[in-house]
Amino acid sequence: MKNSRIDFNTQWNSLCLKKCNKEKRKETTQDDLCRETLSISDNLPVRCVGGWAMQKIFHLIQYFGIFTIGMKSKWQGNINYIEICSGPGRCVNRENGEEFNGTSICIIEHQASEYLKKILFFDYNEKVVDTLNKRISARNAINAKAYIGDYNKPNDICDKIIEETKGVGLNLVFIDPTDCSVPFTLLKKIKERIKNVDFIVNFAIRTDVNRNIRNAVLHSETHQNVVKKYTTFLGSNDFFNNPKVIETANKGSQQDLRKLFRDEYMNSLKKIGYSHFDFKPIENYYDLVFASSHETGIKFWSKANAIGFDGQRSLF
Ligand SMILES: C[S@@+](CC[C@H](N)C(=O)[O-])C[C@H]1O[C@@H](n2cnc3c(N)ncnc32)[C@H](O)[C@@H]1O
Repeated sequence: MKNSRIDFNTQWNSLCLKKCNKEKRKETTQDDLCRETLSISDNLPVRCVGGWAMQKIFHLIQYFGIFTIGMKSKWQGNINYIEICSGPGRCVNRENGEEFNGTSICIIEHQASEYLKKILFFDYNEKVVDTLNKRISARNAINAKAYIGDYNKPNDICDKIIEETKGVGLNLVFIDPTDCSVPFTLLKKIKERIKNVDFIVNFAIRTDVNRNIRNAVLHSETHQNVVKKYTTFLGSNDFFNNPKVIETANKGSQQDLRKLFRDEYMNSLKKIGYSHFDFKPIENYYDLVFASSHETGIKFWSKANAIGFDGQRSLF
């Protein structure tokens, strides 16, 4: 399909040690930025990632292109892309040393980015934000900027978005954390204050939730921190009080439990005004959860997901 090809600017980074396991990464990375090598394309820091990261970026960017082109003439040029947990813009695959563009740089290099009024990135790590701003400047992307922002402080992030966008237009918000630590109040506040928002959330259901959820349901008194974390993430404690959840944790499969967890998230999204949902599994790691208050969003999402990542891979 035309336009489905994404240029990741893939290059081999010969200084990547490759195959660093979790233990080794404690020495070789700081806040997931590699200490051993810088980017071979611009000599700036790179984020150490697993091989599946490119798949996530691929699906996000497919949606971004279809959404932006489809909506550009309907909002008088007031379309914004906002990413929370932006990373530094360049990644290195720890398995094979392949270096490639992260979500943020793929967005600003996409031909559709010229139709956006504002492209705003947030990350709580100063070095990450500084690095990303250097990459944005190098590309002369005048509608883009990275800011320090902590997802635990939703109002600060909303203040900055409103300052930049004047609270006008249609917004695509992508939230890309590594686990289920993002409080639901972030989404609630964004929807309340920014109004016209579609969300894509990296939902760490196949790692974080998979490992911890059964024990949290069955032994909540000894797993209070985990229960608190998921209650904050889901935006309610209905999940832990649901008899079906308790029965499934006792007798059901992990897949059934994951489905109930995801359903609870959708319930919270419904309460803040969303009616169209879907999700795209990214291997055995996470789901990209999509939420829109308009059926056009889901049509775009289905169209975007009809384009397979494997086709992209085989073109390299
Ligand atoms: C999975 S990475 C982002 C990767 C990036 N979106 C990409 O695909 O190229 C997660 C990012 O979240 C940031 N982060 C972690 N905790 C955060 C918080 N409380 N608020 C904002 N950002 C946070 C980290 O610094 C890291 O850069």
